Amino acid sequence: MPLVPPYIEALRPYVAGMSPEEARRRYNLEHVDKLASNENPLGPSPLAIEAMQRSLAGLNFYPSGGVELRRRLAELYEVKIENVIAGSGSEGIMANIIRTFLLDDDEVLTTENAFIGFRVLAQSRGIAYRTVPYQDWRYDLPALAAAITEKTKIVYLANPNNPTGTIFTRHEFDEFYRHVPERVLIILDEAYFEYAKDHPKYPDSMHYRYDNVITLRTFSKIYGLAGIRIGYGFAHENLIANLLKVKLPFEPSTVAQAAGIAALDDREFLHRSLELNARGLRMMTQAFQEMQLDVVQSQANFVMLPMSTPEQADRIATSLLSQGTIVRPLKAFGLPACLRISTGAMDANERCVEHMRRAVMEEKSCPSPTSSR
Ligand SMILES: Cc1ncc(COP(=O)(O)O)c(C=O)c1O
Repeated sequence: MPLVPPYIEALRPYVAGMSPEEARRRYNLEHVDKLASNENPLGPSPLAIEAMQRSLAGLNFYPSGGVELRRRLAELYEVKIENVIAGSGSEGIMANIIRTFLLDDDEVLTTENAFIGFRVLAQSRGIAYRTVPYQDWRYDLPALAAAITEKTKIVYLANPNNPTGTIFTRHEFDEFYRHVPERVLIILDEAYFEYAKDHPKYPDSMHYRYDNVITLRTFSKIYGLAGIRIGYGFAHENLIANLLKVKLPFEPSTVAQAAGIAALDDREFLHRSLELNARGLRMMTQAFQEMQLDVVQSQANFVMLPMSTPEQADRIATSLLSQGTIVRPLKAFGLPACLRISTGAMDANERCVEHMRRAVMEEKSCPSPTSSR
């Protein structure tokens, strides 16, 4: 018997993008902007920073398991504390869902090129991972509903979706839900909820308190707290009770919980973050379109650009990097011809656009035999 199960051997390890320090060194640059990981360019919520500092003196004690944050979220969303879970980022909660609900013969179902974090977690459980292609870079919910089998246990939907930035609408979700058996758990990953919530057709999943739906949200994006690892989820109390049995008892950490509670009150930071993102998204989308690039309409804090070929995507990413902008090539997501660019501070966005203009010019002046653009 091998020590490592074959499905673990077969996993591809996560490869992080180049760090700004490495890019600076390699290309001899003074300044590098990282627009690769959908992080908040304004830093962490200031109220969260103060609360984290205050929490440090209590670190001799074990954490409470997130109970104060759960209580606060229950109050805010007018649900019971038994309907709320807090964990080490939404990925931490996703890991618990995978451990809690799946048997060896179960299948999970999602879209092709879904959020890589979910794919890795599901595949590390050794169960069947089935996907349905996008349609125009959006979830094809009717096709997903039709692909549900007797063995399907979890359907994973990210709304807005990473890496496309697209959303599915309330109407589309309603139609989809009618076709999902109650024994199937639907994960609605709303990591980018705050960016999309004002879209008139966006289905806020808190309005879908169905027994088989779990909503996941995070402080990593709009609240600028990706580094402390704090996320939360809402579901039927029976699902939460079972998740709590599996969750590490001292997760989230004391500091992470303090950050989350304080961030919820930081309305000013939330608005500033939203406003900056909206401006950045508008500016970048328009500028890239003017360069005749294909831009997928995004409702999140990043845009996806499908290029003509994987080679062209590589060349453009390398050109941007050499000029001082790190973007995310999507080969690891299974989209080798696509790039994802996060919004940053306005000056970083403007530099990115300038760098893209030069990269596109280089393409035109020296087209490769494989480039069809
Ligand atoms: C769709 C989606 N879900 C979840 C996450 C992870 O969030 P967290 O930092 O809360 O684990 C990300 C992060 O990029 C994401 O894009």
